[in-house]
Amino acid sequence: MKELSIAEVLAEVAVLVKPHFGKGRTADYIPSLASVPGTKFGMAVRTVAGEEHVIGDADEGFSVQSITKVFALGLALNRIGDEVWTRVGKEPSGTPFNHLSLLEAEKGVPRNPFINAGALAITDVLLDVSPDPAGLVRDFAGFLADEPVEIDATVAASELANAWQNRAIASLMRGQGTITHEPEAVVAAYCRQCALTMSCRQLARAFLPLAAGGFSPVAQETIFHERLTRRLNALLLTCGIYDSVGNFAYRVGLPSKSGVGGGIVAVIPGKATVAVWSPELDRFGTSVVGTAALEAFSQITNCSVL
Ligand code: DON
Repeated sequence: MKELSIAEVLAEVAVLVKPHFGKGRTADYIPSLASVPGTKFGMAVRTVAGEEHVIGDADEGFSVQSITKVFALGLALNRIGDEVWTRVGKEPSGTPFNHLSLLEAEKGVPRNPFINAGALAITDVLLDVSPDPAGLVRDFAGFLADEPVEIDATVAASELANAWQNRAIASLMRGQGTITHEPEAVVAAYCRQCALTMSCRQLARAFLPLAAGGFSPVAQETIFHERLTRRLNALLLTCGIYDSVGNFAYRVGLPSKSGVGGGIVAVIPGKATVAVWSPELDRFGTSVVGTAALEAFSQITNCSVL
């Protein structure tokens, strides 16, 4: 059988996902995300070899939310090194991304850097490096994407006005000594970081170092050591999709990170990155259509790492 081109695969995926629209709901706990049309769908593939293919709304910016946690972790590990792991663990949590229950039992040390508690701890680490960690993350993401990207001030304000759960998490960690800065400053910086706007095309480019042994073919620079790259992918595979990571690995089989804006970025080590956006979420906060699209893509191309 003739092998399909990437453009043909994307066209097929776009047809296969159609029945999945309307099954999820846009994030309503951040009011400015609730109004994004659920019909949006974009997908971008960028290969290590330099091919780029997009379909649908792949050039439209959306709120990338928790996907920024990967940039923040990469920055923290590059700047501070393994000391980061004294603040946060490397285990899947098995609980929703914004839960506090384990945190209290485990003395304020979050299970991993991708649940909100862990990301808040990383923000606290980055506040030692810069008064504006969200600006650091924005500039790093823009450098990797090879074009400037912006933080949406309306989304940041909307999230901060409703960040009661994140405030509770940060206060608990401040009491336990996991974070050292004022909880309100940490939460404000974290909300600003999450409000980063990027498109699928930009995300696929920005994640490419994770598919290319740490080298960015876009920026023409080594971003992460090879071993750190493997470790970041291990964390994505085990913790990137929170408490549905097992089901996601079963269906898609690729290290990936989701965000409640409806984006998911998947890494095919050695080969490519795939970014997808569709705002309707399942109950775990992951894009329904995005997951279906990545499942179809990995099945058609047989690119799963598992
Ligand atoms: O803190 C929050 O709840 C959001 N800013 C980010 C959560 C998120 O994206 C979870 N991912 N699916």
